[in-house]
Amino acid sequence: MKTRTRDAAMAVTVLCTAVALAACGSSGDSSPGGGSESSGEDTPSIGLLLPDSTTARWETQDGPLLETKIKGLCGDCAVEHANAKGDVALQQEQMDSMITAGIDAIVLVAVDARSLAAAVRSANEADIPVIAYDRLAEGPISGYVSFDGEEVGRLQGRALLEAMGGGSERQIVMMNGDPSDPNAVSFKKGALFVLKGRVEIGKEYDTLQWRPENAHMNMSGAIAALGAGNIDGVYAANDGLAAGSISALKSNKVDPLPPVTGQDAELGALQRILHGDQYMTVYKPFAPEASAAATMAVAAARGESLDRLATDKVSTRGADAVPAVMLTPVSVTVDNIKDTVVKDGVYTIEQICTPGLRAACDEAGLT
Ligand code: GAL
Repeated sequence: MKTRTRDAAMAVTVLCTAVALAACGSSGDSSPGGGSESSGEDTPSIGLLLPDSTTARWETQDGPLLETKIKGLCGDCAVEHANAKGDVALQQEQMDSMITAGIDAIVLVAVDARSLAAAVRSANEADIPVIAYDRLAEGPISGYVSFDGEEVGRLQGRALLEAMGGGSERQIVMMNGDPSDPNAVSFKKGALFVLKGRVEIGKEYDTLQWRPENAHMNMSGAIAALGAGNIDGVYAANDGLAAGSISALKSNKVDPLPPVTGQDAELGALQRILHGDQYMTVYKPFAPEASAAATMAVAAARGESLDRLATDKVSTRGADAVPAVMLTPVSVTVDNIKDTVVKDGVYTIEQICTPGLRAACDEAGLT
């Protein structure tokens, strides 16, 4: 552990308030003034750098789970939390602040993998291990935890084909994610592996910052260009893009709605699935992902090797054979909501089944 640690959390807190890091937070402090003064010299501090609040999972699932798991493994660890609000410069600044403050380990979901590489290098030079969470970061990272992204795309592609049924001249719209996120590239690759040659891709878009409103705008453009009745399916890379696409289809009076894919098992997506507006989502179990990353982060903060925690190795630009844990994504349709997200306790039936969805929930066995 670094000797700087004692001052680290306090300095991060100071920087968080002083240097436009509006979205910082600390949970390791018990002193009324904030900071981790009270936790003493041996207290490791771990930074969580989340990318945005556009996609619900980061703040509603991953952030709280990571924090709980870190605390469970290391009761006196201080957790410093920052959200970059989709702003690359802000995330660089947040990371630099943590490095300057001498944090012991960083869990990073990069807004833009390439742009953050310099900050990852700075961390490495300062001997601060960086665990890339969900999105593979570039630069000398120490560990990586995620899901098989191409498999996510294949699950989406297969579900879309299944939902569209037979027929040779089916035309789809592809609403891909943000290409600065390496996952978006993998999702698209996996989806194309399944869809290529089997459907006509009428229009395809990259969605900057994964913003639903950009998907809405692009879908409106696709409807205008292709004709409302000529879209047989929509490949949406995640639930936010599914929501934006579906709202555009509805405001353009497309009826019946074509099948739309998604990802992230958002509460709204499960409700759209029950309502019949969205066909599927991909569930990437949050708890095991957060648990694996928390275990790596705590070990890294204590200066332990991550090799024994890894089940895989990955390479990224700037690092080879990085210890990794790669998990398996699950396709969720109306038929297996109960056996997946409800069974895992992500949501209760009460949360999903609002009064308007009662009949659909009964039919889906959500009772
Ligand atoms: C990806 C992540 C997805 C989705 C998306 C938008 O990197 O794997 O689950 O949330 O970002 O933030």
